[in-house]
Amino acid sequence: MELFDAIHGRVTVGKVKPDPLQRDVIEKLLSAGAQAPNHYKVRPWRFVVLTGDGRKKLGDVMAASFSDRNPDAPAEALDKTRALPLRAPVVIVVSADKPAPDSKAIEIENISAASAACQNILLAAHALGLGAIWRTGEWARDARVKDFFGLAADQHILGFIYVGYPEVQPEPYTRAGFEDRVTWISE
Ligand SMILES: Cc1cc2nc3c(=O)[nH]c(=O)nc-3n(C[C@H](O)[C@H](O)[C@H](O)COP(=O)(O)O)c2cc1C
Repeated sequence: MELFDAIHGRVTVGKVKPDPLQRDVIEKLLSAGAQAPNHYKVRPWRFVVLTGDGRKKLGDVMAASFSDRNPDAPAEALDKTRALPLRAPVVIVVSADKPAPDSKAIEIENISAASAACQNILLAAHALGLGAIWRTGEWARDARVKDFFGLAADQHILGFIYVGYPEVQPEPYTRAGFEDRVTWISE
Protein backbone atom coordinates (compact mmCIF):
# COMPACT_ATOMS: atom_id res chain seq x y z
CA MET A 1 0.00 0.00 0.00
CA GLU A 2 1.24 3.46 -0.86
CA LEU A 3 2.26 5.49 2.19
CA PHE A 4 -0.07 8.43 1.65
CA ASP A 5 -2.98 6.07 0.98
CA ALA A 6 -2.23 4.35 4.29
CA ILE A 7 -1.99 7.60 6.22
CA HIS A 8 -5.15 9.08 4.73
CA GLY A 9 -7.13 5.85 4.45
CA ARG A 10 -6.55 4.47 7.96
CA VAL A 11 -9.59 4.66 10.17
CA THR A 12 -10.19 3.34 13.64
CA VAL A 13 -11.88 -0.06 13.53
CA GLY A 14 -13.50 -0.88 16.84
CA LYS A 15 -15.27 -4.08 15.85
CA VAL A 16 -13.13 -6.97 14.71
CA LYS A 17 -13.63 -10.69 14.23
CA PRO A 18 -12.51 -13.10 16.95
CA ASP A 19 -10.35 -15.05 14.46
CA PRO A 20 -6.78 -15.29 15.75
CA LEU A 21 -3.91 -13.62 13.90
CA GLN A 22 -0.88 -15.58 12.75
CA ARG A 23 2.23 -14.93 14.80
CA ASP A 24 4.13 -13.58 11.77
CA VAL A 25 1.39 -11.02 11.18
CA ILE A 26 1.63 -9.83 14.78
CA GLU A 27 5.40 -9.66 14.46
CA LYS A 28 5.04 -7.46 11.37
CA LEU A 29 3.07 -5.02 13.50
CA LEU A 30 5.69 -5.05 16.26
CA SER A 31 8.46 -4.63 13.73
CA ALA A 32 6.68 -1.57 12.31
CA GLY A 33 6.36 -0.21 15.85
CA ALA A 34 10.06 -0.67 16.43
CA GLN A 35 10.93 1.49 13.37
CA ALA A 36 9.71 4.63 15.14
CA PRO A 37 12.13 7.50 15.66
CA ASN A 38 13.57 7.80 19.15
CA HIS A 39 16.05 10.19 20.69
CA TYR A 40 19.43 8.79 21.77
CA LYS A 41 18.40 5.46 20.25
CA VAL A 42 17.02 4.30 23.60
CA ARG A 43 14.13 2.40 21.94
CA PRO A 44 11.88 3.33 24.88
CA TRP A 45 8.82 1.33 23.77
CA ARG A 46 7.78 -1.90 25.44
CA PHE A 47 5.19 -4.17 23.88
CA VAL A 48 3.15 -6.81 25.66
CA VAL A 49 1.16 -8.97 23.27
CA LEU A 50 -1.97 -10.52 24.72
CA THR A 51 -3.67 -13.28 22.76
CA GLY A 52 -5.97 -16.18 23.59
CA ASP A 53 -6.33 -16.78 27.32
CA GLY A 54 -3.56 -14.25 27.96
CA ARG A 55 -6.21 -11.58 27.44
CA LYS A 56 -8.22 -13.07 30.30
CA LYS A 57 -5.40 -12.37 32.74
CA LEU A 58 -5.71 -8.66 31.99
CA GLY A 59 -9.50 -8.94 32.25
CA ASP A 60 -9.16 -10.48 35.71
CA VAL A 61 -6.88 -7.65 36.84
CA MET A 62 -9.31 -5.06 35.48
CA ALA A 63 -12.24 -6.75 37.20
CA ALA A 64 -10.33 -6.91 40.52
CA SER A 65 -9.48 -3.22 40.28
CA PHE A 66 -13.05 -2.34 39.37
CA SER A 67 -14.33 -4.40 42.27
CA ASP A 68 -11.95 -2.66 44.71
CA ARG A 69 -13.27 0.71 43.66
CA ASN A 70 -16.90 -0.42 43.39
CA PRO A 71 -17.42 -2.97 46.17
CA ASP A 72 -21.17 -3.01 45.61
CA ALA A 73 -20.99 -3.47 41.84
CA PRO A 74 -23.26 -6.22 40.48
CA ALA A 75 -21.71 -9.36 39.03
CA GLU A 76 -22.76 -8.31 35.51
CA ALA A 77 -20.67 -5.15 35.78
CA LEU A 78 -17.65 -7.19 36.83
CA ASP A 79 -18.21 -9.64 33.99
CA LYS A 80 -18.46 -6.76 31.53
CA THR A 81 -15.16 -5.35 32.77
CA ARG A 82 -13.50 -8.77 32.70
CA ALA A 83 -14.52 -9.20 29.06
CA LEU A 84 -13.04 -5.90 27.85
CA PRO A 85 -9.75 -7.36 26.57
CA LEU A 86 -11.68 -10.00 24.62
CA ARG A 87 -12.94 -7.42 22.14
CA ALA A 88 -10.13 -8.34 19.74
CA PRO A 89 -8.01 -11.45 19.24
CA VAL A 90 -4.83 -9.45 19.85
CA VAL A 91 -4.20 -6.64 22.29
CA ILE A 92 -0.81 -4.95 22.10
CA VAL A 93 -0.03 -2.99 25.23
CA VAL A 94 2.47 -0.23 24.56
CA SER A 95 4.34 1.46 27.37
CA ALA A 96 7.33 3.78 27.58
CA ASP A 97 10.48 3.32 29.61
CA LYS A 98 11.15 5.92 32.24
CA PRO A 99 14.64 7.31 31.63
CA ALA A 100 17.27 6.45 34.22
CA PRO A 101 18.39 9.52 36.21
CA ASP A 102 21.86 9.38 34.60
CA SER A 103 20.43 9.03 31.06
CA LYS A 104 20.37 11.83 28.52
CA ALA A 105 16.89 10.69 27.53
CA ILE A 106 13.96 12.59 28.95
CA GLU A 107 10.51 11.31 29.72
CA ILE A 108 8.49 13.37 27.25
CA GLU A 109 10.72 12.22 24.42
CA ASN A 110 10.39 8.58 25.41
CA ILE A 111 6.61 8.99 25.51
CA SER A 112 6.68 10.70 22.12
CA ALA A 113 8.74 7.88 20.62
CA ALA A 114 6.47 5.18 22.05
CA SER A 115 3.46 7.08 20.70
CA ALA A 116 5.08 7.12 17.28
CA ALA A 117 5.45 3.35 17.63
CA CYS A 118 1.70 3.13 18.27
CA GLN A 119 0.93 5.05 15.08
CA ASN A 120 3.32 2.83 13.10
CA ILE A 121 1.44 -0.20 14.40
CA LEU A 122 -1.90 1.30 13.37
CA LEU A 123 -0.61 2.09 9.89
CA ALA A 124 0.92 -1.36 9.49
CA ALA A 125 -2.34 -2.98 10.60
CA HIS A 126 -4.22 -0.94 8.03
CA ALA A 127 -1.73 -1.85 5.29
CA LEU A 128 -2.20 -5.55 6.17
CA GLY A 129 -5.99 -5.31 5.89
CA LEU A 130 -6.46 -5.50 9.64
CA GLY A 131 -8.65 -3.31 11.79
CA ALA A 132 -7.24 -1.63 14.88
CA ILE A 133 -8.18 0.78 17.60
CA TRP A 134 -5.85 2.61 19.97
CA ARG A 135 -7.51 2.63 23.38
CA THR A 136 -6.47 4.20 26.66
CA GLY A 137 -9.20 5.19 29.09
CA GLU A 138 -8.96 4.64 32.82
CA TRP A 139 -7.20 1.29 32.32
CA ALA A 140 -4.08 2.92 30.95
CA ARG A 141 -3.74 4.77 34.25
CA ASP A 142 -4.90 2.00 36.56
CA ALA A 143 -2.34 1.15 39.26
CA ARG A 144 -3.21 -2.56 39.31
CA VAL A 145 -3.00 -2.83 35.55
CA LYS A 146 0.40 -1.13 35.57
CA ASP A 147 1.56 -3.45 38.32
CA PHE A 148 0.39 -6.47 36.30
CA PHE A 149 2.64 -5.35 33.46
CA GLY A 150 5.55 -4.74 35.81
CA LEU A 151 5.34 -0.98 35.40
CA ALA A 152 5.99 1.54 38.16
CA ALA A 153 3.07 3.73 39.19
CA ASP A 154 4.66 6.74 37.46
CA GLN A 155 5.32 4.88 34.20
CA HIS A 156 2.95 5.37 31.31
CA ILE A 157 0.88 2.94 29.30
CA LEU A 158 0.52 4.74 25.97
CA GLY A 159 -2.19 2.51 24.71
CA PHE A 160 -3.88 -0.82 24.28
CA ILE A 161 -3.99 -1.47 20.56
CA TYR A 162 -6.79 -3.88 19.78
CA VAL A 163 -6.25 -5.63 16.44
CA GLY A 164 -8.08 -8.19 14.34
CA TYR A 165 -9.71 -8.71 10.99
CA PRO A 166 -12.42 -6.08 10.54
CA GLU A 167 -15.96 -7.18 11.30
CA VAL A 168 -17.15 -4.24 9.28
CA GLN A 169 -14.73 -1.99 7.42
CA PRO A 170 -15.79 1.59 8.11
CA GLU A 171 -15.91 3.88 5.11
CA PRO A 172 -12.83 6.08 4.92
CA TYR A 173 -13.75 9.65 5.70
CA THR A 174 -12.14 12.99 5.11
CA ARG A 175 -10.62 14.40 8.28
CA ALA A 176 -10.29 18.04 9.08
CA GLY A 177 -7.19 19.43 7.44
CA PHE A 178 -4.20 21.20 8.87
CA GLU A 179 -5.17 24.71 7.75
CA ASP A 180 -6.56 25.90 11.08
CA ARG A 181 -3.69 24.30 12.98
CA VAL A 182 -0.74 25.83 11.22
CA THR A 183 1.17 29.08 11.45
CA TRP A 184 3.61 29.80 8.65
CA ILE A 185 6.66 31.85 9.47
CA SER A 186 8.59 32.70 6.34
CA GLU A 187 10.66 35.73 7.22
C1 LIG B 1 -3.89 8.46 22.75
C2 LIG B 1 -5.20 7.94 22.19
C3 LIG B 1 -6.09 7.32 23.04
C4 LIG B 1 -7.30 6.82 22.55
N1 LIG B 1 -8.16 6.20 23.41
C5 LIG B 1 -9.32 5.74 22.96
C6 LIG B 1 -10.21 5.08 23.84
O1 LIG B 1 -9.93 4.90 25.02
N2 LIG B 1 -11.40 4.65 23.34
C7 LIG B 1 -11.73 4.83 22.02
O2 LIG B 1 -12.83 4.44 21.62
N3 LIG B 1 -10.88 5.41 21.15
C8 LIG B 1 -9.70 5.87 21.59
N4 LIG B 1 -8.81 6.44 20.71
C9 LIG B 1 -9.11 6.45 19.28
C10 LIG B 1 -9.78 7.73 18.84
O3 LIG B 1 -11.07 7.76 19.38
C11 LIG B 1 -9.80 7.77 17.33
O4 LIG B 1 -8.49 7.82 16.84
C12 LIG B 1 -10.58 8.98 16.88
O5 LIG B 1 -11.95 8.76 17.05
C13 LIG B 1 -10.34 9.37 15.44
O6 LIG B 1 -10.68 8.29 14.62
P1 LIG B 1 -9.68 7.80 13.51
O7 LIG B 1 -8.60 7.04 14.20
O8 LIG B 1 -10.52 6.94 12.61
O9 LIG B 1 -9.15 9.02 12.83
C14 LIG B 1 -7.61 6.96 21.18
C15 LIG B 1 -6.68 7.58 20.32
C16 LIG B 1 -5.50 8.07 20.82
C17 LIG B 1 -4.52 8.73 19.89
